[in-house]
Amino acid sequence: MSALSGVVSIEDLRSRARRRVPKVIFDYLDGGADAESTLRENCRAFDEVTFRPRYAVDVRGCKLQRRVLGFELSFPAFLAPVGFSRVMHPDGEVAAARAAGLAGTAYVLSTISGHRMEDVRAASSGPVFFQLYLLGGREAAEAAIVRAKAAGFSALVVTIDTPVAGMRERDFRNGMKEMLGSNLREKLPFLSQFFARPRWLANFLRDGGTPKLLNVVIPGEGPMPLIDVTAALARAAVTWEDLHWMRDLWRGPIIIKGVHGVDDARRAVDEGADAIVVSNHGGRQLDGVPATLKVLPDVVEAVDGQCAVLMDGGIRRGSDIVKALALGARAVLVGRAYAYGLAAAGEAGVTRALQILKADVERTLKLLGCSSVDMLDRSYVSAPFVR
Ligand SMILES: Cc1cc2nc3c(=O)[nH]c(=O)nc-3n(C[C@H](O)[C@H](O)[C@H](O)COP(=O)(O)O)c2cc1C
Repeated sequence: MSALSGVVSIEDLRSRARRRVPKVIFDYLDGGADAESTLRENCRAFDEVTFRPRYAVDVRGCKLQRRVLGFELSFPAFLAPVGFSRVMHPDGEVAAARAAGLAGTAYVLSTISGHRMEDVRAASSGPVFFQLYLLGGREAAEAAIVRAKAAGFSALVVTIDTPVAGMRERDFRNGMKEMLGSNLREKLPFLSQFFARPRWLANFLRDGGTPKLLNVVIPGEGPMPLIDVTAALARAAVTWEDLHWMRDLWRGPIIIKGVHGVDDARRAVDEGADAIVVSNHGGRQLDGVPATLKVLPDVVEAVDGQCAVLMDGGIRRGSDIVKALALGARAVLVGRAYAYGLAAAGEAGVTRALQILKADVERTLKLLGCSSVDMLDRSYVSAPFVR
């Protein structure tokens, strides 16, 4: 039976992923910070929004395409940066980028990536953006920015919500740190998770085991080992001052990711951001912040068209995408929705995730009586949290 037979929803891909990868990897992908309240809220907020359809409308030529940051996308959903993708599947970031390109949308490559950025760029026929953490300090970041520019990345995505890594309790319980390390004695209590997934283990070992971060090259040392990430993140906090330095180096579109409210949104506009992403990192950083969908309308109002407002968090269905667009997002990013597909079946799984989401968006628009994503506005939804 193919890994994808019977898959009709993102939840189905999630179940397949759970069966295919070791628990430590699945929980890293699926989990959030602390009590996971924000992780749950991100999804739950979509249920609070209800549709207000109009019927007897001609929706035969329904238009999903949208221009975002100058790129014509087949539908307005990018693939969000997802670190450690190469441990979910050996083809990792290359597979996700290729699937995004073939689906006519953009891929955002995380700094915490196991494939060379040049290979990721070459794999996609669509736009590819580079997400930057200051891992390894400014020198390593400068080298990454210069490489990304030379390789043909189209925008720099600067994530601001990670002054330290969030407390992902599942990772601690599953021995994530020990599994990434080289001390076999420390790994022993956790190894049964790997042996329970022999196919994944064989692929992982064939791929060379735990990958290095080939896009974080420390001067004089080479690529950063994955095990060093948590400690390195604590020294990698991005500040608004860093942004000036990045802008001088990059000289292309800059997207600020991790905006939680109107103050940072206005600040990002003042700093010249081309776009912002209303994001709480999928509930993986500060637990207890509100769902991004609930923050979105105020941010859209505050920004008042001065830059593009994107959002992510909790999107598991195309109808969620439609709700976010109706509340003012220019486009959305999806994280876990495609990463479940990657973990379940590599590139084919990502492709399936995008097919599901895109078909959902089209069907939802038609059932709403709306013939274009450009016509979506608040009149198509009721949201109790919109003032
Ligand atoms: C496993 C995983 C790893 C992530 N790694 C990164 C990362 O390296 N950089 C980043 O800016 N965001 C990262 N994110 C956050 C996503 O880019 C995105 O904001 C989030 O997944 C959106 O929520 P959703 O998963 O509910 O769609 C990660 C998310 C997940 C699930």
